[in-house]
Amino acid sequence: LDRFCLGLEPQTQRRCTSTIPAIKTPTGSKTADFVKKSKTFQAIQEERREQAERSVLISCPAKFSEKKFLDFFSKHGTVNKHFFYNSFGAYAVVEFSNKESIASLKESTGIPAVDHEAAVPFKSRLLSLKWPGIQSSNYPTPNFKEQSPPNIGDISNLLLQKHSVDEQLRCLTETLQLTEENISLRFLVCSLLGDIAGAYFPECIIRPFGSTVNSFGKLGCDVDMILDLDGIYARSQKKGSGLSLEYQVKTGPSERAVTQSILSVVGKCVDQFGPGCVGVQNILQARCPIVRFAHQPSGFQCDLTANNKVAMKSSELLFLYGHLDPRVRHLVFSVRCWARAHSITSSIPGAWITNFSLTVMVVFFLQQRSPAMLPTLDRLKELAGPSDKCVIEGNDCTIVSDLSKIALQKNTDTLEKLLQEFFEFYGNFPFNKASINIRKGKEQSKPEAAALHIQNPFEATLNVSKNVNAAQLERFVKLCQESAWLFQQKENLEPGSTQSNGSVSPWGFAALLAPSVASGTGVKSRRKKKTEPASSRIKNLLDSLKIKGGETVAKKGSA
Ligand code: GTP
Ligand code: MG
Repeated sequence: LDRFCLGLEPQTQRRCTSTIPAIKTPTGSKTADFVKKSKTFQAIQEERREQAERSVLISCPAKFSEKKFLDFFSKHGTVNKHFFYNSFGAYAVVEFSNKESIASLKESTGIPAVDHEAAVPFKSRLLSLKWPGIQSSNYPTPNFKEQSPPNIGDISNLLLQKHSVDEQLRCLTETLQLTEENISLRFLVCSLLGDIAGAYFPECIIRPFGSTVNSFGKLGCDVDMILDLDGIYARSQKKGSGLSLEYQVKTGPSERAVTQSILSVVGKCVDQFGPGCVGVQNILQARCPIVRFAHQPSGFQCDLTANNKVAMKSSELLFLYGHLDPRVRHLVFSVRCWARAHSITSSIPGAWITNFSLTVMVVFFLQQRSPAMLPTLDRLKELAGPSDKCVIEGNDCTIVSDLSKIALQKNTDTLEKLLQEFFEFYGNFPFNKASINIRKGKEQSKPEAAALHIQNPFEATLNVSKNVNAAQLERFVKLCQESAWLFQQKENLEPGSTQSNGSVSPWGFAALLAPSVASGTGVKSRRKKKTEPASSRIKNLLDSLKIKGGETVAKKGSA
């Protein structure tokens, strides 16, 4: 099997398990569990979910003794882990060894008396610590773990201290990626939401998907959640006795209508009973109906969907690609950061390219390398075992879950080269006629007139970037061209000189984050040499890039 993986001889292959490095998080916490190579995606998610069920979220006084805090909670059982963070007030996450500790804690907890208002008596695992004895301004402030990303200016300054573009890109991932604590908090918020939805559907599970779990999450990204009701649907009847019972149920005209009505009641419940949940919006008419809200104690923006199993599978797929080679994550983090800095992506829905589409584009680009850095989706399907079989609404979504079965080709490209060639690849891609297809790992003819066509990995008839209009694609292409040009200027790839005021001139990835022509703000000259007009720089770039099919990319973008 291995010999023929990706059509290579064994000596040119490597097993992906040896390539997963320990990822240092910005707070210095130990490596996030999701990189443990021996566990499958599902096993990691399940472990985190179970930890969250044994955890509570505590609103704390501004100053208090950590020791007294721990003594207090230890009375209810062994505390496995705890950490503190700030989000408009001090909070703590406490994870017990046993779920029974939660019951004991709840037993000793009172409903607050509120002045001039009436409390909704919903007992959640979001608690406030009111013990006066623990509060004192004399105690040292506990170590608060950071939950927000640094701003773009701080990131740039950090990058300027590095010695190579590769170092910069690794540093970027380490700075932006979700920390161990942040992932725990995300799972805890899902678990708290599960308690609310459980009032209607006791067997339901709320699972995070998207960038919380796909290994490309950045501090501050939203929490995408799925209300998973499979535990209810799956209970099949035992055959054989001759007699059977069926639940009487209400029915709706379609799956979509049922999903909408379920989300509508859960949304109402979150709004009226969910402590800390504010700004609840039921967006049920969208292609994918969601309930959107902010969870104040964590500071997370949350999107709750239901009946969206393909999205969970897509998250698993991206997780898998993200763990085959560390360069994949570095490249995705860089491209996402670059796109955000130039408003190619946005937190507001619209005709922009999404982070999901960008990630698929990076995967596709890495499949095109010679030798290929990533296997095709078809290959991941071939490697799957019987227990990996997965069909969702008629779509075969089977992929291998055991990463150690995947043999990779020996590709030693540096991150600098990969990023440069990513920009050249998409600055020069025939978007007018070709579709990006990671299942085949090859360009396919575009089946429809959309500006950007990226085949949905698991639903072949859908385009994940249908929303993108020609103007947005053109901005993306121009920015790729401009960034490719900047990287072709060798002086941009070496540490910048220190100026008289002590600042270092932008170089490497930091130079790519500065305002650009394509984002409409005009290139500020970063070095004297680059004072030539933008139009002539773009012309030079077009001349220097290989143009496929004899057409310029700028024309294709607006076609
Ligand atoms: P962030 O921008 O960091 O939140 O990245 P994300 O990957 O979480 O993206 P987003 O919150 O927009 O979407 C969450 C998940 O929904 C993605 O990871 C995908 O699995 C899925 N998704 C998003 N957009 C699309 C789409 O257009 N088509 C399909 N099939 N799935 C999508
Ligand atoms: Mg998301």
